[in-house]
Amino acid sequence: MSVTVRVPAKVNVQLAVGAARPDGFHDLANVFLAVGLYDEVTVTPADELRVTCAGPDAAQVPLDRTNLAARAALALAARRGIEPNVHLHIDKDIPVAGGMAGGSADGAGALLACDRLWGTGASRAELLAICAELGSDVPFSLVGGAALGVGRGELLTGLDVGGTFHWVFAMAERGLSTPAVFREFDRLAEGRRIPEPVASQDLLDALAKGDADALAAAVTNDLQPPALSLFPELAATLAAGRAAGALACLVSGSGPTTAFLTRDAATAEKVAGALSASGTCRTVRTAAGPVAGATVL
Ligand code: C5P
Repeated sequence: MSVTVRVPAKVNVQLAVGAARPDGFHDLANVFLAVGLYDEVTVTPADELRVTCAGPDAAQVPLDRTNLAARAALALAARRGIEPNVHLHIDKDIPVAGGMAGGSADGAGALLACDRLWGTGASRAELLAICAELGSDVPFSLVGGAALGVGRGELLTGLDVGGTFHWVFAMAERGLSTPAVFREFDRLAEGRRIPEPVASQDLLDALAKGDADALAAAVTNDLQPPALSLFPELAATLAAGRAAGALACLVSGSGPTTAFLTRDAATAEKVAGALSASGTCRTVRTAAGPVAGATVL
């Protein structure tokens, strides 16, 4: 018997970052949108905890107990006093170290799959609490759709979205470490007063209306300057997407994946073709959102 859970990637349409807190994290106003690029996590009973991974980026995925899928299984098993003896297999389509919450997706997927396999019957609130222990973006991977995350990003309020938004994502030649990007944010902010992060009302209205032009005018990412500082070549990818007719071009989360909002699916294909031909990125994908969060197949 095995259980498979499908979990989407995310793009941040607003990522407002406050000053570093005493615990090292940053307060955020983080507007997440789940998009249709997916990892699938399959859990099967086994003699001991084991992780395997397949997909184009699989070689970069750690298969030890630092993998968020393994940590999710260990966390749920510890709470129930059971042995975490499962084989976790990840079919990975979300870019690794890309700023699209691929690791978080695997954590949320493994948690939901283990809950079903073991019949632990955890409540939504308990699953969300475990997700928040695993990482700031993991709760959103569970719920999907669109949400505002505050605190370190884990305290979620669901958002209404009045339409489908069409995106192109350009994957970079190498990854970026999220902690390194936050450290660079701190370095660039030194000596400046950093305002409290707040959600943009214009952006929330644009989401609610499903208005791509208004959303394009409102998207912001405070991690974009530090990501560009660490990875200056991304500026050429952003420029190529802009020249190809994207409404908005931004770094996705902590990067280095770049995200391009387009008016419709046909324009997304056109922008994707131009980005592929530009030679400024490794691979290009299109995806629309919002989509549902972690789902048992
Ligand atoms: O929560 P998560 O494990 O995904 O965070 C990874 C790292 O990103 C943290 O260790 C921290 O350096 C940084 N981070 C942060 N503020 C947040 C979220 C993450 O500084 N709100």
